Amino acid sequence: MLHLIVVLSALCAVTLGCPSIVSRAAWGARPPRCNSPVMQSQRPMAIIHHTVTPSCYSLASCKRQLLGMQNYHMNSQKWCDIGYNFLIGEDGQVYEGRGWYRVGVHAGNVNPSSIGIAFIGNFSNRLPNSKAINAAKNLIQCAVSRNRLRSNYALRGHRNVMNTACPGNTLYRNILAWKNFRA
Ligand SMILES: *[C@@H]1O[C@H](CO)[C@@H](O)[C@H](O)[C@H]1NC(C)=O
Ligand SMILES: [Zn+2]
Repeated sequence: MLHLIVVLSALCAVTLGCPSIVSRAAWGARPPRCNSPVMQSQRPMAIIHHTVTPSCYSLASCKRQLLGMQNYHMNSQKWCDIGYNFLIGEDGQVYEGRGWYRVGVHAGNVNPSSIGIAFIGNFSNRLPNSKAINAAKNLIQCAVSRNRLRSNYALRGHRNVMNTACPGNTLYRNILAWKNFRA
């Protein structure tokens, strides 16, 4: 019986292709200050960012970066919540920001039609490690399997939709080769 359960849960994991996601509760997020609009399903775009903060390689250090960003976004920027939908640490973990169902604040006009995914760190001159890159790619596939992104979604960098250097030159050159990249 236990064996069967293990096999079935392994199959589910393969079918959905979803990485484990560190919940807001697990990183100690503050509750949102207001309700951002609910996202449509089958959004057409995934937008890649870097946070231009220090990098993090463990739950403890990623938590510190997340709490700092959330405070900055809520206290200084006066947004409802941390801006991004998801964040990726170089511990290889996906962290829940606004998550699957709330419109983020990360890419201007395309916020409602996109999922914002931010690598924690400054990737102007170096790439995120492979654990982090794989986590982001798995998250994007997961979004398709959960119907949050349409299957012919466009992957873009923040700079493709706004006047910004984000997600940094080195990371940007890398995402040019990711599945479904479209400038
Ligand atoms: C990000 O990295 C680039 C290249 O090393 C550097 O020029 C820039 O000042 C960094 N940005 C911040 C905010 O640290
Ligand atoms: Zn950005």
